[in-house]
Amino acid sequence: MTRLLAPLRSTLRLHRAPLATPLIHRTLHLSPRLLLRQSTAPASAPPAVGTAAPGSVDGFTGEVVRGADIDPSQLVIEKTKSPKTIPPASQLVFGRTFTDHMLCIPWNSQKGWGKPKIQPYGPLNLDPSSTVLHYAPTLFEGLKAYKGKDGVPRLFRPDKNMERMNRSAARLAFPTFTGEHLTTLIKKLVEIDADWVPTEPGTSLYIRPTMIGTQAGLGVGASTDVLLFVICSPVGPYYSTGFKPVKLYATTKDVRAWPGGTGGYKLGSNYAAGVVPQQQAAALGYQQILWLFGPEHRLTEVGTMNLFASFSSSSGIEIVTPPLEDMILPGVTRDSILSLLRDHASGKKKLEGLPENLTVSERNMTMGDIVKAEKEGTLLEMFGSGTAAIVSPIDGIGYEDRVVNVPVGSDGLGDIARVLLREIVGRQTGEIPSEWSVTVDS
Ligand SMILES: Cc1ncc(COP(=O)(O)O)c(C=O)c1O
Repeated sequence: MTRLLAPLRSTLRLHRAPLATPLIHRTLHLSPRLLLRQSTAPASAPPAVGTAAPGSVDGFTGEVVRGADIDPSQLVIEKTKSPKTIPPASQLVFGRTFTDHMLCIPWNSQKGWGKPKIQPYGPLNLDPSSTVLHYAPTLFEGLKAYKGKDGVPRLFRPDKNMERMNRSAARLAFPTFTGEHLTTLIKKLVEIDADWVPTEPGTSLYIRPTMIGTQAGLGVGASTDVLLFVICSPVGPYYSTGFKPVKLYATTKDVRAWPGGTGGYKLGSNYAAGVVPQQQAAALGYQQILWLFGPEHRLTEVGTMNLFASFSSSSGIEIVTPPLEDMILPGVTRDSILSLLRDHASGKKKLEGLPENLTVSERNMTMGDIVKAEKEGTLLEMFGSGTAAIVSPIDGIGYEDRVVNVPVGSDGLGDIARVLLREIVGRQTGEIPSEWSVTVDS
């Protein structure tokens, strides 16, 4: 094996995953024991019954050999010769209009990451046998660029998206990469298309990094070819006529995610199966699905958002979100909300408008808990959280044979959601100084 690897070692760079991101290398699928260690392995697992195929782990050092990392210094830029007309913010429909350019970075199992290229936005050239078209090896991310009063586009916590993207990539046996390198390239793309970042309050440029398996050929396995691309879409204000609370349909039939499944990763395959339940909910007049899990009807997520609920008790107010375990997507907004609320609760950074006696809990709650709190008058508010709307207030849940009423304020928001919206928007636009906000020229 050593002889086999020697020429490979001299031509490929040895690359260690950066400490900031807990990466699993693309080739770990060849080493079941390593893969088990990295995932949520049960306490006991079957023993190895053979040795992993050679070709990816250095025989001397045990270190993973991989091709080149994403390298921003290799960037090639080809600007469009026919720029499109930028529509006014009032005419933007989410995800329908795309900017003039896109970023593409190919990966191949022999060569590693290829040269990044910013090129005119346009169709991809895919072989009909490409793995993505048959077995769904595809993942995506969603983050936004916001223009503050100074006109400078800012990204919000892109490091969190890169971390999540690498986790998803590892789960699909895709190559991983240094998150800061892709962020550098995304900043460049946003800089080139900066005129497309709308300036009106509540508007932004939605950025969609994606990875797909492009290996031509049928057969389920790790794709030897992968394409990473990033497209951008200007989006209008999420709530153009003020906050409209949503009604949820709590489905007791369909399940979004389960222990040991992929619900905690942002894989394309998690989303297609949600369309029919969403259509069924919409046919009954509900705006979103409330995904439940287990016979006790545990609350997990709302449509494609994380979920928060707050309750009053004799000792104060408790705000609850379900624990991630491996079923719930680790939302960047969820993480930001938890961090703001915990800093308030601990006294590290008090937020005006939030109650003094606030407890922040990551714990399970069931529909039985919600119904009981509604009856006792202790259910204060519920909202979904995500990059699209930041907070999405909930005013009712269709569950079994009735609608559970959830209180909302006269402006459509609950007291906690209102403060969180102000604090997060302030950080996104740069009005509240924060290390979460990253200017594209930095
Ligand atoms: C299933 C799911 N849950 C939660 C979220 C919210 O995540 P974030 O706050 O990172 O947008 C998303 C959106 O990305 C999602 O698709």
